[in-house]
Amino acid sequence: MSKILTTESGAPVADNQNSAQAGIGGPLLIQDQQLIEKLARFNRERIPERIVHARGSGAHGYFEVTDDVTPFTKAAFLNTVGKRTDVFLRFSTVAGNLGAADAVRDPRGFALKFYTEEGNYDLVGNNTPVFFIKDPIKFPDFIHSQKRDPFTGAGEADNVWDYWSYSPESLHQITWLFGDRGIPASYRHMNGYGSHTYQWVAADGTAYWVKYHFKTNQGIRCLDADQAAELAGKDPDSHQRDLHQAIERGIYPTWTVYVQLMPVAEAAEYRFNPFDLTKVWPHSDYPLQRVGRLVLNRNPDNVFAEVEQAAFSPNNFVPGIGASPDKMLQGRLFAYADAHRYRLGVNHTQLAINAPKATEANNYGRDGYSAVNGGGRAKNYEPNSYDGPRQTDAPLAAPTAVSGWTGTHVAPQHTKDDDFFQAGELYRLMSKGEQDRLIANLAGSIASVTRDDVVERVLPFFHAADADYGKRLEAAVKAIRLADEA
Ligand code: HEM
Repeated sequence: MSKILTTESGAPVADNQNSAQAGIGGPLLIQDQQLIEKLARFNRERIPERIVHARGSGAHGYFEVTDDVTPFTKAAFLNTVGKRTDVFLRFSTVAGNLGAADAVRDPRGFALKFYTEEGNYDLVGNNTPVFFIKDPIKFPDFIHSQKRDPFTGAGEADNVWDYWSYSPESLHQITWLFGDRGIPASYRHMNGYGSHTYQWVAADGTAYWVKYHFKTNQGIRCLDADQAAELAGKDPDSHQRDLHQAIERGIYPTWTVYVQLMPVAEAAEYRFNPFDLTKVWPHSDYPLQRVGRLVLNRNPDNVFAEVEQAAFSPNNFVPGIGASPDKMLQGRLFAYADAHRYRLGVNHTQLAINAPKATEANNYGRDGYSAVNGGGRAKNYEPNSYDGPRQTDAPLAAPTAVSGWTGTHVAPQHTKDDDFFQAGELYRLMSKGEQDRLIANLAGSIASVTRDDVVERVLPFFHAADADYGKRLEAAVKAIRLADEA
């Protein structure tokens, strides 16, 4: 037998189809609790969407250790081959607002929460190993240029390329984005990357710099620009539908997880600045070492509770894993929890999707809006003589050496560091067909810019990356613009 319908206070509802009126055909009565509560609650269903990565899809699963990494990190969830840790993964697009189509040219978010026995570890990555910028102070300007214009209310190629024309460091990621992998066919058919360099610390205190790679076992599948435009119109929810249906049918997507490890002593002399997010470490320098596998095997029961309210923060580390001096990462260590306090409130860590599962949170933070776990009768100060929770005195990560003066410094340049070399390497790695599609995608976008000075500022970057890349792109842009004028 079905349950009886109640108000939010649990009292029975007599009529959920007809509002209470003053007589037949008369005005409505404010004493109709069901009507007033229902309309008021409906008005409050939406919370602020994420400022970026608003559109996303999530799934539960687990991470399993397949290879011994105890010489490199003391993280407990990684300490035994065969050990499984529950995870929640939220995939996303970046620029679109909630409700935007999935099949678009845009990086994809790959945000993972590991519910470990030492607390939650969040690895908030993308499907790209690099990023557009290398200093967090640029992030709001960069994002503004990619989203809607304040006057036209629409996305503008002029703004996108105007910003990039002053940001040569973006060229590597631009080359990636306009290539075949710029529009994944689904979330299941793409890789994930931690992107930044992080720190791993072994039990004996030895530290390594580490980069994470999640290689899809479904194979990489991408859409070309025409396929994507058609799919985005036909089924804006294509990625969501694909992920949800695969998991419902028991076709669980998996990724093999690898790391690249750099001994700390090698960082200073490495040919690329290892903390520059616009650069990769070629695998020939630091080979991939397998760590484990990631399996997604359960859909959220409720998209709002589990996907919309999920809060990932790059500063949620566990002992044995820490930050690197990558400036972008450092900026992100602040930005995410701050966004969650605004978007979800100060007690967002008490929501079921964000709370630790394999351990419990014990601290002296208290109160605020919507506190579920208020700490009961326990003392709310520390130190105390009531056997309250105490610090461990065990270091979480290794110290990082620093030197010099405070100030606004540009990133240190290593011997092979410039804005173009790795973009050129990526172009040269592509097959002829991939290069053709890259040129066509880029030319189409750049040719739609209305300002000649923007186009003139940006084309030299491609020439600097690779002579053939620059020559072919310039010719393709000119051909489109001439055809448009004719
Ligand atoms: C300094 C640069 C960056 C800043 C300031 C920044 C800031 C933000 C903010 C404020 C959010 C929304 C968080 C929320 O409301 O829950 C977000 C989401 C996200 N960002 Fe960043 N971001 C930066 C760079 C990056 C980079 C480099 C990556 C990937 C390597 C990345 C991956 C993500 C992902 C995956 C999400 C969505 C998380 C989710 O699914 O809830 N971001 N970012």
